[in-house]
Amino acid sequence: MERLDKAFSSCKLYTRSEIAKIIKQRRVTVNGEVVVKPEFKIDLSHDIVCVDGERIDFKKYAYIMLNKPYGVVSSTDDGRDTTVIDILPTEFKREGLFPVGRLDKDTVGLVILTDDGLSAHKRLSPKTHAEKVYYFEVADPVLNETAKEIEKGVLLKDGYLTKPCKVKLISDNSGEITLTEGKYHEIKRIFGAKGNKITYLKRIEFAGIKLDDNLKEGECRYLTEEEENLFIK
Ligand code: URA
Repeated sequence: MERLDKAFSSCKLYTRSEIAKIIKQRRVTVNGEVVVKPEFKIDLSHDIVCVDGERIDFKKYAYIMLNKPYGVVSSTDDGRDTTVIDILPTEFKREGLFPVGRLDKDTVGLVILTDDGLSAHKRLSPKTHAEKVYYFEVADPVLNETAKEIEKGVLLKDGYLTKPCKVKLISDNSGEITLTEGKYHEIKRIFGAKGNKITYLKRIEFAGIKLDDNLKEGECRYLTEEEENLFIK
């Protein structure tokens, strides 16, 4: 059981003064009854709380899957470019949201946005080896032998040896690559070191969470409970 005003403040939809105001204005109902006491105790797992008749989702954190379009940057604030936060529909916007990890401006696909800093930090930590799967297309054919070399690790121009990864060729010029690390421009630099060039890159999976095929570029949805568990585990 939790105080009504406390439950409201943890869902971050309203400021403290707004919460006091909407309760006082008799706009809040619990299971259909108007409640005017901020200290009224509610059970978050059963009680239905509405403001102006609209049901409130009291989840502490939001976990959103976005299919990032081309040309959008995965940061919270950018003076020049459109960010993943800018393109979120209003109903998904919430204070403190940020993208978990980065995709290049010209990479498309799965970006998870959350305001749960701790879980995001855990998912991104090199220690957890979260797998990131990308579909790629390249300018020149990739030989099986080259794919095997990439899997073992590639020495990049700056002297960094990439961690072992998985490469599955789909055609001469396309395939899927699974990384457990995320160095700057890593896939582009891996193929660059092999004399090839990425022409299209799409993240299709992150930490076991697959990009929903039904999401068009620029569209988003909340993670399902199962996906949330993969993210926060
Ligand atoms: N590797 C890249 O080169 N770019 C990305 O956006 C992600 C991985």
